[in-house]
Amino acid sequence: MNEQLFEAVDQYIGNLFRDEDDCLKATAQSIIDSGIPQISISPNQGKFLHILARLANAKKILEVGTLGGYSTIWMARALPKDGKLITIEIDKKHAEVAKENFNRCGLSAKIDVRLGKAIDVLPILEQEGAGPFDMIFIDADKPPYTEYFQWALKLSRPGTLIIADNVVREGKILLEESPDEMVAGVKRFNKYLSECKDITATIFQTVGAKEHDGMAICIVN
Ligand code: SAH
Ligand code: DHB
Ligand code: MG
Repeated sequence: MNEQLFEAVDQYIGNLFRDEDDCLKATAQSIIDSGIPQISISPNQGKFLHILARLANAKKILEVGTLGGYSTIWMARALPKDGKLITIEIDKKHAEVAKENFNRCGLSAKIDVRLGKAIDVLPILEQEGAGPFDMIFIDADKPPYTEYFQWALKLSRPGTLIIADNVVREGKILLEESPDEMVAGVKRFNKYLSECKDITATIFQTVGAKEHDGMAICIVN
């Protein structure tokens, strides 16, 4: 009942603001057609990240977990002319689908797709001096979220905005023990975040087209 209502309201918002242009629609379709997981953020969440990137005046954005590039495009569109976005993806096929989408959207010059395990690529970015980033979106595999966050901090400056997707998992984070390693991973992350003195953070719940979940949002002190 509630799920249906949340989805209907999400559609109402989408229809009202007409947020997805042909390019984003084609990106969403490419994810269906190529058979890669349909776990992109929703259109309204994309618009939300876009607004946050603008608010943060982001010139350098880092994303962990590209998939087909749907969230990437929303954020990259908030960048100024000389802005850059680095997105990390482990799966070659996902990265290829994403690159086609960036081409189609005319964003290839701004987006650098780094193929590899995030835990290996993040230290390389530090060595390269790629940071500090103005905004970081964590959305890859959930068990190492805490470690991704620690790397995000190293690649930050005071004022950097860090967002992590999927930290509520339909409320499964309320379970004392969970056999689901994704739930265990985000619980560990949420606790770490709540105790971390270097940031100011909260978690908000997300409902709508996707299952009930949540995003952690924080600003580096
Ligand atoms: N941000 C995307 C969705 C990402 S889904 C969007 O909203 O549009 C999670 C992605 O993380 C998948 O493409 C998956 O292949 C990738 N991933 C999983 N484990 C990873 C790892 N260890 N390092 C880098 N990417 C990883
Ligand atoms: C999953 C991952 C995501 O990033 C997401 O937004 C939804 C689901 C998953 O791996 O199940
Ligand atoms: Mg996600």
